[in-house]
Amino acid sequence: MRSAKSYVSLCCIVISFGCGSSVAATPEQDLGEIKARMNAAQGGDPEQRPGAPLYREHCAACHEGQVQKAPTHTFLSMLSADAIHAALTEGIMQIQASALDDAQKHLVAEYLSGESMGTVKPAPAPLCSGNAARFDLTRQPRVRGWGQTPDNRHFIPGEVAGLTAADVPRLQLKWALAYPSTVRVRSRPTFAYGALYTGSQDGTVYALDEHSGCIRWTYRATAEVRTPVLVQTAAEAGDQAPLAFFGDLIGRVYAVNALTGEEIWRHKADDHPSATITGSPVYHAGQLFVPVSSLEEAMADPDYPCCTFRGSVIALEARSGQLLWKTWMIDEAPTKVGESRIGTPIYSPSGAAIWNTPTLDPARGVLYVGTGNNYTGPANDRSNAVVALDLATGAFRWHWQVVPGDAWNVGCMIGLDTCPEPAGPDFDIGSGTMLISLPGGGDRLLVGLKSGQALALDPDDPQQGMIWTNRVGRGSIQGGIQFGMAYDDQRIYVPIADMANSNDASSAEREAEAGPARPGLYALSPVDGRLLWNTPAEDVCYGRTFCDPGILASVISIPGVVFAGHMDGRVRAYSSEDGRVLWSFDTSQPLPTLSGARGQGGSLGGGGPVVHDGVVYVNSGYGLYFHMPGNVLAAFSVDGK
Ligand code: HEC
Repeated sequence: MRSAKSYVSLCCIVISFGCGSSVAATPEQDLGEIKARMNAAQGGDPEQRPGAPLYREHCAACHEGQVQKAPTHTFLSMLSADAIHAALTEGIMQIQASALDDAQKHLVAEYLSGESMGTVKPAPAPLCSGNAARFDLTRQPRVRGWGQTPDNRHFIPGEVAGLTAADVPRLQLKWALAYPSTVRVRSRPTFAYGALYTGSQDGTVYALDEHSGCIRWTYRATAEVRTPVLVQTAAEAGDQAPLAFFGDLIGRVYAVNALTGEEIWRHKADDHPSATITGSPVYHAGQLFVPVSSLEEAMADPDYPCCTFRGSVIALEARSGQLLWKTWMIDEAPTKVGESRIGTPIYSPSGAAIWNTPTLDPARGVLYVGTGNNYTGPANDRSNAVVALDLATGAFRWHWQVVPGDAWNVGCMIGLDTCPEPAGPDFDIGSGTMLISLPGGGDRLLVGLKSGQALALDPDDPQQGMIWTNRVGRGSIQGGIQFGMAYDDQRIYVPIADMANSNDASSAEREAEAGPARPGLYALSPVDGRLLWNTPAEDVCYGRTFCDPGILASVISIPGVVFAGHMDGRVRAYSSEDGRVLWSFDTSQPLPTLSGARGQGGSLGGGGPVVHDGVVYVNSGYGLYFHMPGNVLAAFSVDGK
């Protein structure tokens, strides 16, 4: 039965790297071709590698989803070879690996990672010296995290951006950094104390000098860090060193000293073997709030008892990492509700993962999150819902479901009978909720879904439902609205991905009903959701593999300008007034880099561009779900100065 397993490994490659939720699907008839393509990209059939039997004998008994906390095979295959080797030789797997000699440990690490152990990874930039090495404590973080502000508006004030609409046409490459062994970079850079902080695919977190890109320190997390790094202000840190917080792909939350990179604590956010952290942690009054997602939805194995993960939010004491509260999005633990045709148990309720960034509302004493779909049926009212939790206790204040009946998992894409019946559309709330004040008074919560639908709720009267809604995109399991909208007190900027071919036959009918793909940038009125302007994404892909015109990454606005990272590798700057394209740069071309190593961006996904003190920064490359790989952090300034 090679076929079932090969589906699984394909899904692992194609699907599981992403948002912890939905993904590109693979129609069965195309699977062979796609698999061949992905395998070619991965360096041959992994099951033929010499470490494969060693893994099966010494690791598989725990790492195929059986043991709580043990990251699944999918996760292990996303670690770098040296991270796995380190876990076996000096880390927490020493006992489990004690029957293996060092050469065998190398082989297991190479089998799982698809990377060779000897890979030399030169530093991507010089180490800082002199003034560039010094943290300037007068330069406090002013915006941070994925959403920049606690209300998640993705807006950077003019004095922080240091860039105007008139400057934008003169932007040129200032420097670029090539991350080692990387095909994707999702962390949105953040700024504090004169440093740029970013996570990366091999788990390295960097503090760089924000002007020159030289390295102040690095810290190595076990797995990919795709959250932004959140840095405390001096006031928040009190008389201690400010901390930097982030999460990794295997569900760990970390705090390190923001000035040295020294680890202060780490905390496993959830014991589920498929738990992951995608959305950024947010900080408020000594506490860190972390959204928990998972990759269990992608366990498309007919023998896998699907599904037992439930999304949650945890609150940690920021200084110590001690757990204060944990609130499940679904109250009851999953129980066995049936069996598949081949006798695999089915568990429910499950899902409602959170892969967007929580929104803080201290005035109302709440925190908002948006949930994703259920993984198994029957669907309940906690999926695709906006949820308000009490900041102090984590208790549910209210929840409001946008798309009901959405039970879905990757089994649906490949025709497995783990697919719930009826199968839902996989329309997670992708974009973090935004809390805004209307120009004429009154507050709104703005929500964006993978269906391409934006809508507004009244945070004081959520049960009256949508004040307005506007489905500007066609939507798909690859978004619609995926990673984040922006608001600048005048307009809401809605990025639409609408991939031309999301490789998902199972939703073709639904997509056809929703009309043609409409990728591009849309500006809506916050009052009634009416369209103010839109700029369709120009198609400059000319058939290039994995290139697509739409906007997946979250957008950022500064006064007069919206910056959007497109799946075609271009960063475009749009006039906020009328949507005119003011500037565009193709990051998917080879770029000169600080180390001289080969640097080339790709599709933009996840965090997207950000602007700080006159410089536009973008992490480029999104080698998963049929997007263009890349390994670059690029910085742009007026005339490249
Ligand atoms: C007896 C069960 C068991 C076996 C056998 C086992 N593991 Fe693990 N593994 C775990 C658990 C549980 C964790 C999570 C521990 C934690 O996070 O506290 C884990 C974590 C890991 C991690 C993450 C390390 C980190 O620092 O977070 C890696 C990598 C790993 N295992 C690789 C392996 C490999 C390779 C093998 C085979 C040589 C193996 N494991 C055998 C149970 C097992």
